[in-house]
Amino acid sequence: MTSLLETPVPAAADDLTLRRGAARVLLRNWTGISTIPSRGLYPHQWSWDSAFIAIGLRHLSVRRAQRELESLLGAQWADGRVPHIVFNPRVPLDAYFPSPDFWRSSSAGAAAGAPAHTETSGIVQPPVHALAAWLVHEADPQASRRRNFLPRLYGRLAAWHDYLTGPRDLGRAGLAAMVHPWEPGMDNSPCWDGPLARVNPVPTGSYRRADLDHGQPAERPTDLDYGRYVRLATDYRDSGYTDAGGAHAFAVEDPCVNALLIVSEHALARIAAETGMDPAPHHERAARLTAALVERLWSPADGMFLNRDLVGGALITERSIAGLVPLIVPGLPQDVVDALLTTAAGPGFRLGEVPMAPSYDFRGHAFDPHRYWRGPAWFNTNWLLERGLRQYGQAPTADALRTAMLGAAGASGFAEYVDPVTAQARGTRDFGWTAALTLDLLAGGHPADPGPSSPTSPSSPTSLSSPSNGART
Ligand code: SER
Repeated sequence: MTSLLETPVPAAADDLTLRRGAARVLLRNWTGISTIPSRGLYPHQWSWDSAFIAIGLRHLSVRRAQRELESLLGAQWADGRVPHIVFNPRVPLDAYFPSPDFWRSSSAGAAAGAPAHTETSGIVQPPVHALAAWLVHEADPQASRRRNFLPRLYGRLAAWHDYLTGPRDLGRAGLAAMVHPWEPGMDNSPCWDGPLARVNPVPTGSYRRADLDHGQPAERPTDLDYGRYVRLATDYRDSGYTDAGGAHAFAVEDPCVNALLIVSEHALARIAAETGMDPAPHHERAARLTAALVERLWSPADGMFLNRDLVGGALITERSIAGLVPLIVPGLPQDVVDALLTTAAGPGFRLGEVPMAPSYDFRGHAFDPHRYWRGPAWFNTNWLLERGLRQYGQAPTADALRTAMLGAAGASGFAEYVDPVTAQARGTRDFGWTAALTLDLLAGGHPADPGPSSPTSPSSPTSLSSPSNGART
């Protein structure tokens, strides 16, 4: 196997150049109220993108980072869901598919409480928002208090988590379920191949894919997969976006989504305490979710977490990066942590050996280093791993990953994703969360420093703490 030192990783730009480049991406992608993920491929506001972007934006402008989250949560539905896209009415309908006239949220989603005057999608994305809100607050607590930032967001964030742990607990076992492959954010993961095989695709030609105007077909999902995505979204829309009691052809419990929910629930406890509310219910819910995560999704034989297929009724035996992301969860049993670290460094993910961890097991039958979520390395999942490694005392591995991520981000032009071995750019460029998380890693200080997420007691909520070191530009 090639070692990290032998791998042809692109040369890193110096920190100042990198910071300026990342800032330029975020400034160019700023619309006045939020940040688009990319200028061609994703011209609206995306939910988990906005959360990661806010985490980086806080190092440039705390005010904009606040605005990023406020504008997203301003489009929340009355049932608590935070839509995965908030559409910009100034963008032409054919710039992105599925467009607002496909989702028809204000009419088809009216019974579920969709806003009347803002068009959104009707599905969700992973709940990174309370974590992001807490980190934005920590970047400048005085500015946060002055603007009443957390008190204004707390109720919305709590309703969002109530939605995920209420109507979205489709398995009735204490975890949130996702009803479309776009919801866990890893659209085209081989994890979904089995569940999607049951779904009848809509005919090719009954819609026009706008993504292929901007992305290479070999780096995007196939037409067959798109036909199935559109079928699932159509059926969900036509059910009035009904969750419990709805007929879901696709429903999964995803370990990355639920790990993010747990970390965000811990953040919500801190937000509650800061705003004079009772944090205890949030601590309790985080503990219940953590127990359910281990009980429902841990696979000792794989040494990692797996997805659970609620329609087929079994764990999905594909090994994706989603199964390692729970390293960000504090208080995991020690044997689980040990196994996760072994798996991350093993032949499936080769952490410490290749620049960044792939989105799917290198040895998996469907591994493809270039196609969307079927192998390429992504910056958000590796940023989460980096935090998880620090939390569980793996500072040297976290430092090496941080350095490799910064090198890959700069050399790839802040690519959406990269080849996990060569770190060459894939997908679109000038990608919002790649730039934002670059800023966050840069603000973490010297690799030898404890950094923004210094090792803490696994059960300590201080693991959420990530104050800026004042590196704002
Ligand atoms: N990620 C999906 C897309 O490519 C949906 O959010 O459009």
